[in-house]
Amino acid sequence: MRIAEFALERFFARWEFAVRHLLCASDVEGWSMADVVALADEETRALWNDLRLGYTESTGHPLLRAEIASLYDTVEPDGVLVFAGAEEAIFCLSNVLLGPADHAIVVWPSYQSLYEVGRAAGAQVSLHAMRESDGWALDVERIRRSIRPNTRLFVVNAPHNPTGMLPSAAEWQALTELCAEAGVHLLADEVYRYLEFDEAARLAAGADTFDRGISLGVMSKSFAMAGLRIGWLASRDRDLLARCAAFKDYTTICASAPSEILALIALRARDRVLARSREIVLGNLPLLDAFFERWAGTFSWVRPRGGSIAFPRLLSRSTAIDRFAADLVEAEGVLIAPGSIFGMADGHFRLGFGRTDLAEALAGLEAFSSRTLA
Ligand SMILES: Cc1ncc(COP(=O)(O)O)c(C=O)c1O
Repeated sequence: MRIAEFALERFFARWEFAVRHLLCASDVEGWSMADVVALADEETRALWNDLRLGYTESTGHPLLRAEIASLYDTVEPDGVLVFAGAEEAIFCLSNVLLGPADHAIVVWPSYQSLYEVGRAAGAQVSLHAMRESDGWALDVERIRRSIRPNTRLFVVNAPHNPTGMLPSAAEWQALTELCAEAGVHLLADEVYRYLEFDEAARLAAGADTFDRGISLGVMSKSFAMAGLRIGWLASRDRDLLARCAAFKDYTTICASAPSEILALIALRARDRVLARSREIVLGNLPLLDAFFERWAGTFSWVRPRGGSIAFPRLLSRSTAIDRFAADLVEAEGVLIAPGSIFGMADGHFRLGFGRTDLAEALAGLEAFSSRTLA
């Protein structure tokens, strides 16, 4: 298999552990192990203490699958398949659903693997471009027109990386109905679910919308435990999950035993886990609002509707964002991710606001902007 380099991950491989402030991270500030273990109930504490480090069930620990299923209205425990992160789930699903005869539509800009793995599997992939001038909204009619007889998969991520886009309930319904009518599988990448700023705006999970709807979830983002590397697919399409499980025999076979138990502990305590994440993200948002108000003529700001990421734009025509980002990290140790990493070299950059050092990171950006842009 030949596959293009994953630009964002290569960028993080270079910078993530070498800078003072990651102002473009997508995850929420990670939990400490001790704090997670302290969340355990009697049953999960015993599972943790008595855990033996053998292989685990390849579909996932039965209690973990049951806990994940309880996040959905219509999914049974055997409608859940556990993976090593969301990334492995994307890899397996794309390979199982897509081949040279198939077509997929993926909302763009996008987390690269959502379209790149399908391309590498030989499929034709159309990107559904969202535009800043439309407030990054989806265009359901344009999506309808791009469906072909061989379209197998529609991929949307909401809340969205990198724009913070979240469709309205009406748009979501139109989209899921469109996929159902066309017989197309819907991959709903919901790794930022539960971080909708207005909780009333939370959408029905993809897995709950129709029988070919698939939800992609992970412990990394809203649950703030990226180091667990536990993700999952949830769907009522058992045949599809069985094919993904068979594919997984060639990737990781089964998940990490300690991670499964820690994920179970955290999901059972999800109210507390999610409350912490929401507090961090919603506490940081006003700092960004104020920053972009002060710099209104310099940066565009489409306020995200959920998640922990935004995609503002440097409006200056004379300063290239790649140069600006390189000089910023050099001068202040603050990392932003230029849009070129997402294939958008027009001044956009990704900002992450799930970390607890956001105020210091923004101060670095502001000081540098004052010296170079004012
Ligand atoms: C939209 C989206 N999907 C999937 C992933 C992959 O998640 P993980 O790294 O936890 O596997 C990410 C990570 O940034 C993401 O932003």
